[in-house]
Amino acid sequence: MAEKAIDLLVFAPGPNMYYLSGFLEEPGERLFMLTVPQSDDPFFIVPELYEEHVRRFSWVEQLFSWKDSQDARTVLSAAIKEWLPSRPSIGIDSRMWSRFLLILLAIAPEARYEDASTVMSRLRLRKSAREIELLEKSAEIADAVFLETLKKCGQGVSENQIAAEIVYELRRSGADSIAFEPVVASGPNAALPHYRSGDRKLMRGDLVVLDFGCLYRGYNSDITRTVAIGDCDADRKQTYSVVRSAQEQAVQGAIEGIEAQSVDELAREIIKKAGWGPFFIHRTGHGIGLEIHEEPYIVAGNSMKLAEGMTFSVEPGIYVPGQYGVRIEDIIVIEAGRARRLNKCTRDLPVLY
Ligand code: CO
Ligand code: CO
Repeated sequence: MAEKAIDLLVFAPGPNMYYLSGFLEEPGERLFMLTVPQSDDPFFIVPELYEEHVRRFSWVEQLFSWKDSQDARTVLSAAIKEWLPSRPSIGIDSRMWSRFLLILLAIAPEARYEDASTVMSRLRLRKSAREIELLEKSAEIADAVFLETLKKCGQGVSENQIAAEIVYELRRSGADSIAFEPVVASGPNAALPHYRSGDRKLMRGDLVVLDFGCLYRGYNSDITRTVAIGDCDADRKQTYSVVRSAQEQAVQGAIEGIEAQSVDELAREIIKKAGWGPFFIHRTGHGIGLEIHEEPYIVAGNSMKLAEGMTFSVEPGIYVPGQYGVRIEDIIVIEAGRARRLNKCTRDLPVLY
């Protein structure tokens, strides 16, 4: 904060608040902030009904509690009034509802505002041993659920039914929640990278892209595997092996000190050489931690150097519109200079009936 000349950081419920205070909650309509002054102790501005929750789960001791019957603007201006006369520079949580930013802008129009990510992403970029343990546990749950899901996939089962099984199994296996709605994309639907699931029933000859993950103690997992229903044709098998070797090369090449964009190039090069270049329509990966997508982004143009403790996905894919799609995704951690996979599931193409 001193380096960036930020006087006050203001966080909404979400990953940054959890990272700094130990209190995990979704953003809501009530004024609820963690405030971190550069030269003083942090304090919460907390709705009365959350006071006990915060005392129980957070190590931040100062609480500024308010009642539902009070006006949010009056409460906020009383809580931060000591910083207001000095034309402060305020770092705002990028995930704060605009409603609260608008209140801040109204009570401190002379302040300088910037994105708190300039401070936070540097803290969160390299994971501690404890964070890696939690990411690993989250990945383990996802891996186990993938194996369980294989038993449920077969001809005549609908995408929605499989998605429901995934959600159920994740919770049953210890996840606190799902990380995102599962992708169960069969046949031509698999050509849409962010398709979710629908009524389509799996058919012989389909490739099915399964992409899902969970939250464990705030930490995300994210795995993708592609499976075949019955024996699929030679084209599809060939495409699968191209994606598999692109993913393998990118994982092997993800070593400490190289730029994030080089990992993207490694995967892209193999897919291009096989003639599928225009069909790989997204970046190779994204950082993962308290957020499902965070830095470092594994994308052309990102010259950030990979460093110890960084965790990110490697997930190349090929998408043939109207026909089929293939993606393989693992989360890796940079450890002792090179990549270690947190997902341990096989990357052989499973053939199910
Ligand atoms: Co994914
Ligand atoms: Co991903």
